[in-house]
Parts: sequence; structure tokens; C-alpha cells
Amino acid sequence: MAPPDVDLTVYPDECDSFGHLNQAAFLSLFERARWEMLARGPGMDFFTRAAASPAVRKAEIEYHAPAFPGDVLRFQTTLLHVGHTSFTLRQSARRVQGDALIATAEFIFVCIDRDGRPVAVPAGWEQFMNQRSPGGTLRRLTVNGVNLGVEIKGTGPAILFIHGYPLDHSIWQAQVAALEDWMRIAPDLRGMGQSDAPDLGYSMATYAEDLLALLDTLGLKEVVLCGLSMGGYIAFELLRRAQNRIRGLILMDTRAEADSPEGKRARDVAMAQAREGGAQAIADAMLPKMLSPRTLRENPALAEQVRKMMASMEVAGLLGALGAMRDRPDSTPLLKELSGIPTLVVVGAEDQVTTPDSAKIIADGIPGARLAIVSGAGHLTPLERAPEATALVVEFLRSLSPEAHSHGHETI
Ligand code: MLT
Repeated sequence: MAPPDVDLTVYPDECDSFGHLNQAAFLSLFERARWEMLARGPGMDFFTRAAASPAVRKAEIEYHAPAFPGDVLRFQTTLLHVGHTSFTLRQSARRVQGDALIATAEFIFVCIDRDGRPVAVPAGWEQFMNQRSPGGTLRRLTVNGVNLGVEIKGTGPAILFIHGYPLDHSIWQAQVAALEDWMRIAPDLRGMGQSDAPDLGYSMATYAEDLLALLDTLGLKEVVLCGLSMGGYIAFELLRRAQNRIRGLILMDTRAEADSPEGKRARDVAMAQAREGGAQAIADAMLPKMLSPRTLRENPALAEQVRKMMASMEVAGLLGALGAMRDRPDSTPLLKELSGIPTLVVVGAEDQVTTPDSAKIIADGIPGARLAIVSGAGHLTPLERAPEATALVVEFLRSLSPEAHSHGHETI
């Protein structure tokens, strides 16, 4: 079982004379939430059996908004780092009503024996904190008023993978599996995959706000972004809002230009198609454009995986994404402002949705960006040419160390 979220009610005796939840009471609420989380999972004897007690070495709390008696706060706990004898937990408390972020905290624990000597973190702790629930579902996190399914793996510097339309987090399966030194975060965007699909309220701004709220919940100040297609449009929106939080940028099979008038009309046609024929109709229409002729010919299992993924979408999410893409702004003026952000642009040589010409516009527009054109791939390079795409990502992430620089255009 994955670590559950814990709801706790604020009691009047935890509040000060101003009627707010008192700052000192937060510490015990965070502790109660951790205790509950453990009690509903392996229990405290998980640590006692290993003769290792987790002792708090450092606590840091940030207070974001007041809470009042009767408020129900939802506590989410994530593992940020595991060392040999220590680990770091990140906790957030959000008011369930209105989903307001109330406080976030980071705790460093050292495991000690009865004599107070440091001992190894119990085997299985990292796995318990990071595992999925038995049904194979993702971690459920409520952010910005919507419940998202999010794959979170590993610890270390963070990379946020943003999928395209009408897809889900699983397009990054090979990259998420490979980047062992990184904390990999691959959400299903609102309206797609296992995330909630509200009827209204979709825009590039909303998707970006969801992801910023997700980063806040996970306590991540800085990430590398890796966006595919619509995920790239959202990455541009994130850059407009929070460029200081982006440490590096990978743009795959995407474009900076807005939709042309003809493109906007095609969105309206696709919306009518989704309303009439559902996700199945969209999947049938899109499959031949998503994959290269070579992938369609040589990898029928992958074609079936992508078709099923597209056909499983909620119509509300499809309509929302189509409207959001139709109305998105032109991001080409932004490109020259991204000179401080190391950037890798990747495109399938046979991508018909966002062509290599569009990728060149991005790579030429962002000073210092590198372009890689991947032969044999269509619009889904990370799936169609997974080893090549993963190698490009790995090499780019290595180059983010301060002394390394790479530059230029290439075809692999
Ligand atoms: C995507 O893959 O996200 C979309 O196909 C992009 C688009 O239609 O503009």
C-alpha cells in the first residue's frame, strides 16, 4: 500500500488567542499525520523490528495561510531523500475545503539505536514510501483543486515530465525507469490518464498552475522540465510564470508557434468528433499521425499501447485540452528570453504533428539550445525510439553540472 494522505481536524485548544492554529501546534499535527500514515501501513514495529528509531535531527516549517478550529487539513508525506542512516520527509498541509496550502515542512530524521548511536535506515522504508498501491494506480495528490495521479520515483535533483495530448504519464516509462540519480515526477495532467477530468476550466494557465502547485506540495523549489508536444506548450507557460524555478529544459516533439486559423478550425472539428464519437474516434483519427510509418510497420504492440491510451481518455478532458491548445498564446517571442536556461530540443525526423522545422525554430530561438533529430521516430520519440531518447536526456542532465556545456545541431 502507498503511504496514505491523512485528514486531521483543527481543534480549538490548538489555536491561539487570535483564533488561528498556533504555530507550535503544527509540529504535533505533522507528527500525528506521520504516525497515522505509518499506523495505516506497516506500523511502528517496522522501525522497532529493525531496532532503529527515527529521531528528528532538523525541522523546518513554512506557514503559508492561517487555519481555524474545525478546518480539516489534509497531510501528504513524501520521501525526499534516503541516506545510509538518515532520511528526509517533506510534508504539506492543505485545507480540504478550497484546497488552500496552509503549511509545508521538511524533517530530517536520523535512525538511532537504544544507545543513541546512528544505525541504518530499515530496509524497505524507501520502497514503502515510494511504492504504488497494489492496483498499479499512481499516487493521488490533490493540487489546485484537482486530484492528479502522479508517478514519483527516486530521490535527488528533480525532473518533471509533462506528457502531451491525448496521452498520459506512461509515455515517459523508459526515461522514468532509467534516471536513477534523479527524482522523477510524471503526472497525468488534469483531464487525462488517471487524473480527475472536470467539465470546465482548462487552459495552458490552469495546467501550469496545477504543476506549480504539485511542485509546492512536493517541496521542490527547482526542477528540470521535460515536455512533449502539449507538454511543451505547458512548459512555455511555466517558463512565463516561474522561470527562476526551471534549471533546465527538454522540449520533445513540440512547437512554439500558436495555432494558425486553419489549425484552430481543426480543433473545433476534433471537438465535434470527440463529442460525437468519444475518445475512440479521436484515437482512430490520431494514431496514424502520432507514430512514424516505421513504428506502425515494425512495432504493432507499441501502436496498440498508444491507441488504447488515447481511447481511454474522458471526453471532458479531450474537449478541455483541445480548447486549451486552440487558445494558447504564441511562445516564439519568449524564446530569446530563455538564454539562461540550458535547453535540449528533440524531434522525430518523421514527426508530422510538430515537424522538425518547428523544432528548428525553437532551437534557433533559444540562445545556446541544442537540437537532436531522431531518425525513424514520429511524434512520440520517447516511446518510438526510447533508448535514443533516454540517452539524449541522460547526456543533457549530465551536462547540467556547472562546468559542462554543449551546443549545436545533430541527427542520430
Ligand atoms: C500533442 O501531442 O500534445 C498534440 O497532438 C499537439 C497538438 O495537437 O498541437
